[in-house]
Amino acid sequence: MYTRFQLAKKYLRYYLTASNGKGHGIHSPFIFDFVQHVLIDKCDYPVYQSIEKIRKQLLNNSTVIEVEDFGAGSSVIKTNQRAVSAIAASSLKPKKYAQLLYRMVQYYKPQTIVELGTSFGITTSYLASANDTSKVFTCEGSAAIAAIARRNFQTLQLKNIQLTEGDFAKTLSPLLSSLDKIDFAFIDGNHRKEPTIEYFNQLLNHVTPQTILVFDDIHWSAGMEEAWAAIKGHPAVTLTIDLFFISIVFFNPDFNHKQHFTIRV
Ligand SMILES: C[S@@+](CC[C@H](N)C(=O)[O-])C[C@H]1O[C@@H](n2cnc3c(N)ncnc32)[C@H](O)[C@@H]1O
Repeated sequence: MYTRFQLAKKYLRYYLTASNGKGHGIHSPFIFDFVQHVLIDKCDYPVYQSIEKIRKQLLNNSTVIEVEDFGAGSSVIKTNQRAVSAIAASSLKPKKYAQLLYRMVQYYKPQTIVELGTSFGITTSYLASANDTSKVFTCEGSAAIAAIARRNFQTLQLKNIQLTEGDFAKTLSPLLSSLDKIDFAFIDGNHRKEPTIEYFNQLLNHVTPQTILVFDDIHWSAGMEEAWAAIKGHPAVTLTIDLFFISIVFFNPDFNHKQHFTIRV
């Protein structure tokens, strides 16, 4: 994992060199469409408020829960006592990116969505609210965290979510076999090189030309950057967009040649 200073330097470099997606150098109609209709859509959709209210409650919740640590390897090494507020402050995707996921689902309308890393269900709720006909299959290893996510889905009256509990190493493969194809996936758990490449390879067996994969925090560590380089270089990948804190992968063979874009959010 990079230090704060290293990460800040990387972010600064990204910020200064990334395109705004509208100017010269971007000749892709697909990217232009993505920027106009998804990235810079500033509309305040009503559901944003309901989900952010839940985030606020989590940030103020001092209840201590026992959570499994999936940090080293894919097997649980220890359990920790942690306050809900502390987990909410450190693990949840900020609203800027969570709402971007919402707009991607609203615009591209993927039907089958897989999420690795539910936590308290904030991004899951954004993904599930964006399109009534989508179904979100989300995975979480920690039982106490998953229980809180379930409560949040009830509060928001979200019925198009299926939460699978357990280590991704055990749950992902059977889940994917039961789904056949996937249209969208958000990979936001176990931010290490080998597991990230492994999840990508497993998902690859279920992608179509329309599938979109979103990876969280690919600049978080040298290992994650190596995983991102391997994903970008895979022959099935036809276009990528690096937004620094999240990065997006497309497989559509209609794009003329492989292209990688770095765009400022
Ligand atoms: C960064 S949080 C997810 C945050 C959530 N997507 C959001 O922004 O609202 C990652 C979650 O993945 C879970 N996790 C990490 N590695 C895992 C593994 N190998 N198996 C199962 N769950 C895992 C953690 O328990 C944690 O709750």
